[in-house]
Formats: sequence, C-alpha cells, structure tokens
Amino acid sequence: MTELQSRKSNLQETQLVETDIPKILDGEICLKVDRFAFTSNNITYGVAGDMLGYWQFFPPKVSQSEGWGILPVWGFADVIESKAEGIPVGDRIFGYFPPATHTKMTPVNITDTNFVEGADHRAALSPGYNQYSRVAGEAGYNPDMDDMRMLLFPLHVTSFCLHDYVSSADWFGAKQVIIISASSKTSLGLAYALHSDETAPPAVGLTSSRNLDFVNGVGYYDEAVTYDALGGIKNVPTVIVDMSGNASLIKELRAHLGDNMTHCVKVGFTHWEALGSSAMEDQDERVTQFFAPAHIQQRMSDWGTAEFRKCSMGFMMQSIGSSQSWLKVKNVVGLSDFSEIYQDVCDGRIPANEGVIVIV
Ligand SMILES: NC(=O)c1ccc[n+]([C@@H]2O[C@H](COP(=O)([O-])OP(=O)(O)OC[C@H]3O[C@@H](n4cnc5c(N)ncnc54)[C@H](OP(=O)(O)O)[C@@H]3O)[C@@H](O)[C@H]2O)c1
Repeated sequence: MTELQSRKSNLQETQLVETDIPKILDGEICLKVDRFAFTSNNITYGVAGDMLGYWQFFPPKVSQSEGWGILPVWGFADVIESKAEGIPVGDRIFGYFPPATHTKMTPVNITDTNFVEGADHRAALSPGYNQYSRVAGEAGYNPDMDDMRMLLFPLHVTSFCLHDYVSSADWFGAKQVIIISASSKTSLGLAYALHSDETAPPAVGLTSSRNLDFVNGVGYYDEAVTYDALGGIKNVPTVIVDMSGNASLIKELRAHLGDNMTHCVKVGFTHWEALGSSAMEDQDERVTQFFAPAHIQQRMSDWGTAEFRKCSMGFMMQSIGSSQSWLKVKNVVGLSDFSEIYQDVCDGRIPANEGVIVIV
C-alpha cells in the first residue's frame, strides 16, 4: 500500500511511502480508500496538528517516518476484509481517512448507518472525527452527492455553526460582518447563511486581488474588498470572522476599526505562512478561537442530536445546492498526481471556484 506523508516542520514537503497492507485482528476491518477531497482545511490540520491532535489520527507506522505525519482527509472507502461482526466486506464508508490506498479500523457501536472508530489511539481525540457513515444503510443515499459531501459537508457544517454562534449572540451588536479569506469554501458557506438571513448585518468579504471578481460574482457578499484596501471599509460596529490567521492583516484591520471591533472569531489559517504569535495567542476577551467539533457537541447537547442534524442538514442541502452554480470539481487520479496538487493547495494556487477530489 502507499500513503502520503507530510513533514511536520515543513508542510510543503511530502513523501510517498510504500508499506504492507495492514493485517487485521478480530474486531478490525481493512478498507481500500476510494476517493477524498483536499482543501486548505486539510493543510490547517497540519498547522494545528500539535495543538489540536490532528497528527494522532493516522500515525505513520514505518521506520522512515520520524518527523513525518499524515494529514487526515474526508472521503469514501470500501471494506475489503472484515473480522468485525456487523460490517460486511463491500460496505461503503464515509468519514475521516488517511491520504493512502488502505487503512484499518476497529468499528464499535455499529448501527445500520454508522459506526465509531474504537481504536485506542483515537479514544482521546475529538469524538466527531471518530464517527463513520455506512452509506448503503442511509435513507435516500444518493451517490451523485458524494463529491459535494466530501468537499463541503465538513466546511459548511462549520459555516452553519458560525452563523449560529454569531446570530445567537445578537450579532455582537455589529452593523457588519467582515469575513477574511472570503473566497474559501467555509467563508462562502457562512456568507450564504448571512445572505439567506434577513436579520443578518451586511457581509463584507476580504480577499486577495486575484479572487475579487470571483467573490463579487458569487453574489453572497454585500461588498468585497481587497487586502490592500482596508482603509475603505466602513468604520461601524463590526464582527470579524477570520479564516486566514494572517497576523499583520488582522492587526491592520483592528487598528482601522478600533473600538468598533465588537468581536473577532478566529476560525482558520488559510494564510498559514503569515501566522504570527499575536494571531495564535490573542488574549483580548472580544476574541474567540472557534472549533466547530466543540460547537457541534454543545448544540447536540442543547438541542438534541436529531434536531442538530435536522437543522444543519437542512442548511447544507441549501448551501450545497447553491454552491453547484460556481463550484467545479477537479479530479486528480492517483496519489502520485495528488502529491503535485498538494503543493498547489498548500501555496493557495487552486482557483477559488475549484474543489479537488483525489481518486485513489
Ligand atoms: N475552526 C474550525 O473548526 C474550522 C472548521 C472548518 C474549516 N476551518 C478553516 O477554515 C479555513 C478555510 O478552509 P477551506 O477548506 O474552506 O479553504 P479553501 O476553500 O481551500 O480556501 C481557499 C482560499 O484560501 C486562501 N488561501 C489558501 N491557501 C493560501 C495560501 N497559501 N496563501 C494565501 N491564501 C491562501 C485563498 O483565499 P483568499 O484569496 O480569499 O484569501 C483561497 O482562495 C481553513 O483554515 C480551515 O481549517 C476551521
């Protein structure tokens, strides 16, 4: 089998490593990874790998892996061998996988539609990532939605949660919501949510010059502004939602807004090469670090799991439907070609209207 590893100290460096297909013990399954999506979100798993435990999901097992790790991806895999009662060979699974040809798991809490990965090394990690869907058992499962599910479910459930977080706080008294790295798919999901909510303040998208036309063209933002034109932004009470992690940009925007920044939600690091200590360690009480899996757990406890799923799914059906008007899937075949496109995702060279799907 083959797996793609990333150097933890330099995410731009990757290696393809050949190793044996995993042997399974009682209670385990072996899966052939079929396809997965790859966006800046996956690079961010590496940026936050030590802080939030992302390197621990799929630890490399071969000796040449000192200093290397595996970035998790969202995708589909098929069970090719099973010693787990209740999971037959041929079962098709959606969830969190390594960018590899094969992997093994220890399913527990098996139902017709789900299981939980019960391997010891994942027990302490965020539970949402250990949930797997058995798609054949899902009512109304439609394989035509697979690409959008891999690409957008993990991102747009975050958009749904961000809208919930800011709207439930009465918009933090803001008269505008500024979204940084506005062309990212997570930002676009949030902009869609704001655009669809007549109680929401206007949404201002901040983006690079090369993505300005795209951000304007999608039609979700009330206004789009480039990173070199922050001075033109209205100085009114503002919530910032930051997907970029760009320390100098945030500093400049905060200086421009002064006390009019009522709240800042730090979500991502698309500009991961421009991170600074102030971006990571801001002590201001108006600043929140946002972790979608924690928000999801909180809302499942507040509303009940079924209600959370119903509301988030209802939103995603709408947001993903709308995304189909601008999002083009770019298929990449094989892990060798993936290692090339990986560099483009890392460096932000993928056009904003494209979503990469790797067919393993
Ligand atoms: N906290 C959470 O729980 C959570 C959950 C989901 C996602 N997120 C985060 O949200 C962010 C967005 O993820 P995504 O998958 O939606 O992103 P994406 O669609 O892949 O975003 C692509 C955009 O990001 C910017 N970009 C990407 N790489 C860049 C680089 N090397 N240099 C400069 N700009 C770059 C560019 O936008 P601009 O030109 O507009 O800047 C580009 O158009 C990620 O950091 C992700 O981890 C966080």
